[in-house]
Amino acid sequence: MVALDCSHLETLVSEERVHRDVYLDADIFELEMERIFGQAWVYVGHESMVPNPGDYICAYIGSQPIVLSRHASGKTHVLLNRCGHRGAKVLSEDSGHSDRFRCCYHGWTYDTDGRLIAVPMNDLYPDDFDLDDPRYSMRNVAAVDSYRGFVFARLSETGQSLTDHLGPARSLIDELVNRAPDGEVELVGGSLKYEIQGNWKLQVENLADQYHVPFGHESTASRDGFQFQRRTGDAGTRAQIFSTEGEPSMQQSGTWGYPNGHNANGAMNFDGEQEGDVWQEYKSRMIASYGEKKAAQNMHVRHHNALFYPNLDLHMLGQMVRVIRPISVNTTEVTIYPARLKGAPDEMFQDVVRLANMTHSATSLIQTDDVESFERCQAGLHAEGEDWISFVRGIGMDNIEEDGLLYGPMTSEIGMRNQHRAWLGYMTTA
Ligand code: FES
Ligand code: FE
Repeated sequence: MVALDCSHLETLVSEERVHRDVYLDADIFELEMERIFGQAWVYVGHESMVPNPGDYICAYIGSQPIVLSRHASGKTHVLLNRCGHRGAKVLSEDSGHSDRFRCCYHGWTYDTDGRLIAVPMNDLYPDDFDLDDPRYSMRNVAAVDSYRGFVFARLSETGQSLTDHLGPARSLIDELVNRAPDGEVELVGGSLKYEIQGNWKLQVENLADQYHVPFGHESTASRDGFQFQRRTGDAGTRAQIFSTEGEPSMQQSGTWGYPNGHNANGAMNFDGEQEGDVWQEYKSRMIASYGEKKAAQNMHVRHHNALFYPNLDLHMLGQMVRVIRPISVNTTEVTIYPARLKGAPDEMFQDVVRLANMTHSATSLIQTDDVESFERCQAGLHAEGEDWISFVRGIGMDNIEEDGLLYGPMTSEIGMRNQHRAWLGYMTTA
């Protein structure tokens, strides 16, 4: 338990500024693992990643290694990836398939629901040694729930339901999933992973930050910087930042803060409409599934991205899922998964995989810009002389919308202020 009291934490975050210790102090990071990742609903994986009994993926809830597995019953389990004998991580691959999970060290073997089912050479154990003793199992975490295939888990025994945690932000998941003719998305295109020498909140804040786009991504997003066509049928980049007169024209697209620290950004003048045979085929499949009116509503792209605090982002425009894993106070891992719209033409998913490589691989044109900025922030924050960083942009222009949503012009920092409010709420709740 880290010795940081609530009254001190409250001095570090205000409506308009945050103390640099929040990004630099290792004790604060440890407390975040305990109070944010130890209490909140944290995204752990998608049901499509474990379609069959015996399928599993390894992931983390904060610092704690976990396994998302599919048991013979069909149910998904989230298990602590820790052997009940001496604590070794039982599974080490990012994903795999096995009917049993056998620890590499002394061979203790678990069923896919975490129950210990075999202990080799068991004649030296006392008579009252009980395989069913939960201390020897791969423990199930306290709570698991899913929404439209996205699986979340909570380490804490007590807390709100997933429904309450997501609140009105559930509609953002619906927005992406309802674009699929079959009403489901699948993460079946592999992933891209990168490590940032920076605090996890730099990446999370960036997902509420559209102020950086014309500058951080100038080589792609400026009027003359059309580096690539995102997808077949698109004219240049999909997001339109500037008007034909060269003025920033994105503010009207808006940005929203949702309860519990979630946020979303508007679609920057892009409604989703594309050209070409593939698009027409997709459109006809959508109409067949939903009818003309509902299909048009479902295909309308309303948001650029949606962040589910603390660790999941849906890139609605690029059709990708991003997962943020804090490793240490100054190291963060981010993984990107292209999302397949089930029932849509295969060519559309191939475009999304291609797009993920263009925007998020090591030699990509977009995320490399952001990583450079995150790492410069982490380095620059060590400079003495000013302890505070500013989130004042757009303050006072924030409107409360229906359902308790905050609304601001697109480049307002309202989404980040909303995240920091959630941060303080978690951090001051023991
Ligand atoms: Fe797993 Fe010994 S640590 S069997
Ligand atoms: Fe960016």
